[in-house]
Amino acid sequence: MAYLTPTALQAALPELESLAATLAREAGIEAMRMRAEGVSVAATKSSDIDIVTYADRATEARITAALRAARPDDGILGEEGASAEGASGITWVIDPIDGTVNYLYDQPAYVVSIAATVADPLAFADGRRAVAGAVYAPRFDELFSAHTGGGSRLNGSVLNVSDVATPAHALVATGFGYTVERKHEQLVLLTRLLPRIRDIRRLGAAAYDLCSLAAGRVDAFYEKGLQPWDYAAGALIASEAGAMILGADEQTAPGEPLLFAGNETLVTKIRDIVRGL
Ligand code: IPD
Ligand code: CA
Repeated sequence: MAYLTPTALQAALPELESLAATLAREAGIEAMRMRAEGVSVAATKSSDIDIVTYADRATEARITAALRAARPDDGILGEEGASAEGASGITWVIDPIDGTVNYLYDQPAYVVSIAATVADPLAFADGRRAVAGAVYAPRFDELFSAHTGGGSRLNGSVLNVSDVATPAHALVATGFGYTVERKHEQLVLLTRLLPRIRDIRRLGAAAYDLCSLAAGRVDAFYEKGLQPWDYAAGALIASEAGAMILGADEQTAPGEPLLFAGNETLVTKIRDIVRGL
């Protein structure tokens, strides 16, 4: 397959969403089955509490094998190291288990996140933008999915972000990283925000936070230090549900160092507070 033209890409979007949804569901069910048999840590990453389990690796291997079979010309980027150059212009960005610490503790909020992305230097900090994607939470049997311009769905029902416009009334999701330095930085931001909002939710999986935003279960989300696989599918699902996705300031694309999401009125106010303005 040659490089997809914009028209061919547009026509393929529903099919890409459907593939992401099928693979996320299958992989999520398999990850949940593995968890019922126990869990073991395979390695640590940025710190000794940043873990990867054998299930993370097996789930990523399963998804990448299925993608290579279905779409051999597409590229692949996975959290646990999967990497392939593509020729079609599409790169699949995969978080095989987002919420790995939840998975370790058998807390139910873990998800599989799969997004088809295209190069877009300005949209996100990593220079790619999701055009179709899915997030599956196997313990809740919740399948979130979207494609550009097609709205977003949870198990087939259309999603809309909340219209809460006042930070004082907003429930805001966020997350924390795995290094002491990163946690200190995140604590400074949280210290500014927490006294000004209704409450914070720390669900434990950024992809699930963004889907929760899409479903109106939280009013906004922000995090410092996300990686592309944490937000690729979730940011598309949130934005197709009406969220605006912002970076650290007007000049900076969302992603690393910061990503904010929520309805337009609220998200700009939340960002101002987090920035200390
Ligand atoms: C983490 C989760 C968490 C977020 C961290 C991520 P992982 O991903 O999304 O909610 O706060 O920044 O690293 O390690 O569970 O795949
Ligand atoms: Ca992740």
